[in-house]
Amino acid sequence: MVTITDPRINDYLMKLAVEDDQYILEMERIAQKKDFPIVERLVGRLLFVLTELKKPKLIVELGSGFGYSSYWFAKALHNGKVVLTDYREENIDYAKKLFKKAGLIRKAEFRVGEALEIAKEYNNIDILFIDIEKYQYPEAVKTLLPNLNKNALIIADNTLWYGKVVGKNRDKETLGIKKFNQYLFGNQDFMTTILPLRDGILIAYKLF
Ligand SMILES: C[S@@+](CC[C@H](N)C(=O)[O-])C[C@H]1O[C@@H](n2cnc3c(N)ncnc32)[C@H](O)[C@@H]1O
Repeated sequence: MVTITDPRINDYLMKLAVEDDQYILEMERIAQKKDFPIVERLVGRLLFVLTELKKPKLIVELGSGFGYSSYWFAKALHNGKVVLTDYREENIDYAKKLFKKAGLIRKAEFRVGEALEIAKEYNNIDILFIDIEKYQYPEAVKTLLPNLNKNALIIADNTLWYGKVVGKNRDKETLGIKKFNQYLFGNQDFMTTILPLRDGILIAYKLF
């Protein structure tokens, strides 16, 4: 297995990113207890910064889990909404309760079901965030291209897939991620990069 970031560097970064938001801390505790994969704090901060810079009206998340990543988006939203999707009702229920406690409920829409099917209902998406099953990434991006707004951002988690993108792994998740990365890097309509932060976070900027 290839290490993406030296664990010592990761520890260093985590120590810098001290957090005092009680809801973020609560969700991080739950994720750790249940061993639930969230984007974690450093990527959360990136989502916050990108949202502040982009000032989106509409963010659609494919695979919200219990709301950690969407919470970072919502915190930075001024005049827009984030659509949460997950096919597990208990995740969306938890997110709804937490957003209510945190006073963010008006900035979010909560949807249970197949993320891709739900996302197709939305047009002029300013930020599309992808964190569903990894083999679904290529289909997700191709299907939703017509639903993106001018100068939209696509952000996707796990695009280095625990380092499996390097080497001969042929499982469907790794192949899905590799196809997705190749598709966006090769698409001249986008300027695409991957930050080797945590498990690799892809950012693709739509040039028109
Ligand atoms: C990695 S977790 C999401 C974590 C979340 N983005 C965060 O950082 O807080 C992936 C979630 O997507 C959901 N999921 C996976 N594939 C899906 C699909 N096709 N449609 C809807 N939900 C999906 C799973 O139930 C799981 O909760």
